[in-house]
Amino acid sequence: MDTTTLVIFDSVFGNTEKIARAIAAGLGSPATVEIVHAGEARVEQLGKVGLLVVGSPTRGFRPTETLAEFLKRIPPKALRGIRVAAFDTRLKADELESAGVRFIVKTGGYAAKRIADALKKAGGNLIVPPEGFYVEDTEGPLKPGELERAAGWAAGLVEAP
Ligand SMILES: Cc1cc2nc3c(=O)[nH]c(=O)nc-3n(C[C@H](O)[C@H](O)[C@H](O)COP(=O)(O)O)c2cc1C
Repeated sequence: MDTTTLVIFDSVFGNTEKIARAIAAGLGSPATVEIVHAGEARVEQLGKVGLLVVGSPTRGFRPTETLAEFLKRIPPKALRGIRVAAFDTRLKADELESAGVRFIVKTGGYAAKRIADALKKAGGNLIVPPEGFYVEDTEGPLKPGELERAAGWAAGLVEAP
């Protein structure tokens, strides 16, 4: 089995990048962990990957344009046989003041699910459900404990069948 893990992320205010780095660190010590910004990720890198982890801030219920563009460039079937996982950062809907906004945010959905769907469409084997990590406010900071939760989530990826 190929032991290279690739973590691809986008981040506007830096919070998703922090989560991505905690995930990369939490993966333990497989042969190689590469972490790449979505704007610099190349489709050719996917060929030698055993586990692919992709994450984005949730912006308007979906990943950023940069991350979405990268997902679009993945050729059909390119992820066949590759273990994949998706994450995002997001606001905690229950804490939003306006009931209307709360409802819209909850029903609109989140980036991680859309990323997971795109990875599956390209043939990826989704090994855990899409996961969200919480920010206190639009520009952050991350909620307390989220970096540790991200590292724990990453450790679970290594063990997932
Ligand atoms: C234009 C815009 C749209 C957003 N849309 C959502 C959303 O639909 N749902 C949500 O939970 N958070 C939303 N947020 C909050 C972002 O998820 C938050 O800014 C992000 O987690 C920060 O990550 P970053 O520091 O990596 O950019 C939005 C923020 C901005 C600026």
